[in-house]
Amino acid sequence: MTTPESTPNPLPNPLHFPPRFAWGVATASYQIEGAATEDGRGPSIWDTFSHTPGKVKAGDTGDVACDHYHRLDADLDLIQALGVNAYRFSVAWPRIQPTGTGAVNQAGLDFYSRLVDGLLTRGVTPWLTLYHWDLPQALQDQGGWTVRDTALAFGDYAAIVADELGDRVQHFITINEPWCAAFLGYGIGIHAPGHRDLAQSYAAAHHLLVGHGLAVQAVRANAPAAQVGITLNLYEGYPATDTPADRAATRRQDGFQNRWYLDPVYGLGYPQDIVDLLGDASPQVQGLVLPGDVELMGMATDFLGVNMYSRSVIEDAPGEGFLHSRAVRPPESEYTGFDWEVAPQSLTDLMLRLQRDYDPPAIYITENGATYPDTVEADGSVQDAARTRYFQQHIAALQPALDGGAKVAGYFAWSLMDNFEWAEGYEKRFGIVHVDFGTQARTVKQSGRWYQDFLARTKAGVGA
Ligand code: FCB
Repeated sequence: MTTPESTPNPLPNPLHFPPRFAWGVATASYQIEGAATEDGRGPSIWDTFSHTPGKVKAGDTGDVACDHYHRLDADLDLIQALGVNAYRFSVAWPRIQPTGTGAVNQAGLDFYSRLVDGLLTRGVTPWLTLYHWDLPQALQDQGGWTVRDTALAFGDYAAIVADELGDRVQHFITINEPWCAAFLGYGIGIHAPGHRDLAQSYAAAHHLLVGHGLAVQAVRANAPAAQVGITLNLYEGYPATDTPADRAATRRQDGFQNRWYLDPVYGLGYPQDIVDLLGDASPQVQGLVLPGDVELMGMATDFLGVNMYSRSVIEDAPGEGFLHSRAVRPPESEYTGFDWEVAPQSLTDLMLRLQRDYDPPAIYITENGATYPDTVEADGSVQDAARTRYFQQHIAALQPALDGGAKVAGYFAWSLMDNFEWAEGYEKRFGIVHVDFGTQARTVKQSGRWYQDFLARTKAGVGA
């Protein structure tokens, strides 16, 4: 494989990456598996949401998605061929416990057991996410994440998975992006379960973090040798102008997006500035923070997972929402197909800031990537030069972070392949492998060939 001439390689010196660096690709269960009603899988909130007219673009659902459930071996071969040494996937809770509690569905566990064995046979380290948003619908019917029982049920489910797979899986991520699950799902309703209530979203966020703590305990108990952490979606904030008002607004936005999750995970409890702004919607005033919760949410973890796609540029906006701030769109910047600003420097800044403020034992970029409107050429190829450059710039941005002391230990490209992009359905493609959803044919894009070539050249894909 060669690096296409149209995309000069801006990487400084890839050999500076530490040995045993995890180089991977990432996916999530509902986005790729399909087989929504097979082998005893129960319905999740995303089945309900996607089947509700008007919720997902073009009425798309994850019923079939990438049909990964039926194409497991071929997809594992594809992962191996890319030359990555790690693969991040998520377990669908409703495959393991169709109603979220009670008896285990062995067929569901068997699928993930085969997946894990298939990875290990191919020399790829499994990274298992316990929750990537597909909550069993039966639990939602009893209040979902707004009630504490869901966190308790999540702890039980985590114990089951760790017990069954912990002999082979050494890396567990408890929750993927609690901010999205809570705020997009219960606050503004653009994700499942589609509720619009600020207080509910903070109840959900609290129980997601309590669930995280319980899952950490469950993994420690049932897979004592494994590493465990959480994945947060973090965006470094920058003031639109260098005024005290914009700087203060940026700090508030940072509290909402980043510190609300980072502080409790690192044992600091909730940031008081945001508690004050939330008023009645805060979990404290709602009476949801029980004695011991600060310790539970702050259980020691082995790594911090970070999903990073962009940055935020913020201005003061009195009266706007509870944060009195607004995101602005720097006109001179480059944007992806989601209208997210391409901001690789902010990845460097974020890594250094996380190390300075929270000192995690290790940081893994568990997602980073971009959507662009891909074109399939007559020969079937996809020359996604912009996505390729996005990856190059962001991988390159890790180098100064490492040099500055950030303990970055791995990077996962989002995503292995085009998939069900939540409310956007199949329109927004993030894959480094193209999927023809009519035929399910997979074609490695230029970005995938670049990544493969990069890994081969640096030998970083060997020996994790
Ligand atoms: C993240 C999600 C992931 C994917 C990317 C684009 O927020 O974790 O599933 O949708 O965004």
